[in-house]
Amino acid sequence: MKLMIGALAALVLALCVTTTSTAAEKKDGKAIFENAKCAMCHSVDAAGITSKKAKPADLSIVGATKKADWFAKYLKKEVDLNGKKHPAVFKGTDEETVVLTKWLETLKKAK
Ligand code: HEC
Repeated sequence: MKLMIGALAALVLALCVTTTSTAAEKKDGKAIFENAKCAMCHSVDAAGITSKKAKPADLSIVGATKKADWFAKYLKKEVDLNGKKHPAVFKGTDEETVVLTKWLETLKKAK
């Protein structure tokens, strides 16, 4: 009986681990960007993301001059850009922040 409980516990644990890792894999930077409603103010022409705003700030080449670390701080209002803080705070988890900011860093070329 003890053995069965042990085996069952191991199975449950294994299931949990697989589900969380596949969920994390699915969350690519672009999806996080879209879920976080960044496109309310930004387009990313190079990645096929359009904005409803008339003159969105396009982020297609934002990674050409800035790094993931900087994005992470800027999106938490810890650093300024041209003397101003970012108008919105990214409220995702630390893991999502890493995935999102690494993706922003890959944006280096206009379409
Ligand atoms: C309420 C509008 C708004 C929302 C929502 C918003 N932003 Fe911004 N964002 C701005 C403005 C305004 C700037 C400053 C634009 C500028 O000076 O080029 C900016 C600047 C940026 C920059 C720096 C651009 C550069 O030229 O260096 C990045 C990166 C950025 N936003 C990412 C994001 C991400 C990621 C999200 C979603 C989590 C987001 N923004 C949501 C308005 C917004």
